[in-house]
Amino acid sequence: MGLLDGKRALIVGVASDRSIAWGIARAMRREGAQLAFTYQNEKLRTRVEGFAAELDSAITLPCEVTSEEQINSVFEQLKNHWNGLDILVHSIAFAPRGQLEGTYMDAVTREGFMTAHEISSYSFSALGKAARPLMRGRKAAMLTLSYIGAVRAMPNYNVMGVAKASLEANVRYMAASLGPEGIRVNAISAGPIRTLASSGISGMRDFLTLVEQVSPLRRNVTIDEVGNVAAFLCSDYASAVTGEITYVDCGYNAIGLSC
Ligand SMILES: NC(=O)c1ccc[n+]([C@@H]2O[C@H](COP(=O)([O-])OP(=O)(O)OC[C@H]3O[C@@H](n4cnc5c(N)ncnc54)[C@H](O)[C@@H]3O)[C@@H](O)[C@H]2O)c1
Repeated sequence: MGLLDGKRALIVGVASDRSIAWGIARAMRREGAQLAFTYQNEKLRTRVEGFAAELDSAITLPCEVTSEEQINSVFEQLKNHWNGLDILVHSIAFAPRGQLEGTYMDAVTREGFMTAHEISSYSFSALGKAARPLMRGRKAAMLTLSYIGAVRAMPNYNVMGVAKASLEANVRYMAASLGPEGIRVNAISAGPIRTLASSGISGMRDFLTLVEQVSPLRRNVTIDEVGNVAAFLCSDYASAVTGEITYVDCGYNAIGLSC
């Protein structure tokens, strides 16, 4: 018996086999969930259809999160397949070119700030609002992905750290609003992982090396390890956990100087 038997999960954010969302999808499928996926644009469509098929899913829907229309259409179409939704996974972030290098005060612009916040934080509220009617009364769970740059200033992470701080506050406000309907809302703050998104952050390679050297477990986390925690947090075993940011980072957040 799997942790997620009988649950239906919508996975937003698969772009490659390195995507954190892909690790989460694999773990959720292994634990018995049925899956549906979104893809950001036509370029990603065939690839995401292939990933979905690997996990026995034929439901793939377009979703560019700056479009309210596409967000609403995802859940309208989902209703044709499923009569309810138990899990929403939000695993997306974006900041325009130039925002993720140099010092924060040199790099930040009004446009960069607004775009990073819209795509990396507001989109979780927007997807949550659209998912809400399908989740009512189902012991449902929403999950997003954050990073330690939300709570500490990290080199080059810049406006994305500010957007992740907003996302983490979003988790708490969404949890407070949706808790009375039985919907839980949580985040995983993952350690650094080599993905398409993280390759846009200057100095990522150095940071991966640093985590290997100083984190308590002396290594980096994998997408499968993030997936396992995601499966737990969205399962009924985590039924009293909401509004929480859970670190899955080999313990890096716990240290000050390397011990
Ligand atoms: N890789 C890391 O080191 C790391 C660490 C902690 C947290 N995270 C977070 O994990 C999440 C997933 O990132 P990832 O590292 O797996 O990278 P990824 O590149 O595999 O995934 C990013 C996803 O965001 C989607 N996306 C971007 N803009 C979008 C838009 N406007 N509309 C719809 N989708 C859009 C992309 O299509 C892609 O699927 C992000 O929130 C990221 O900040 C990543």
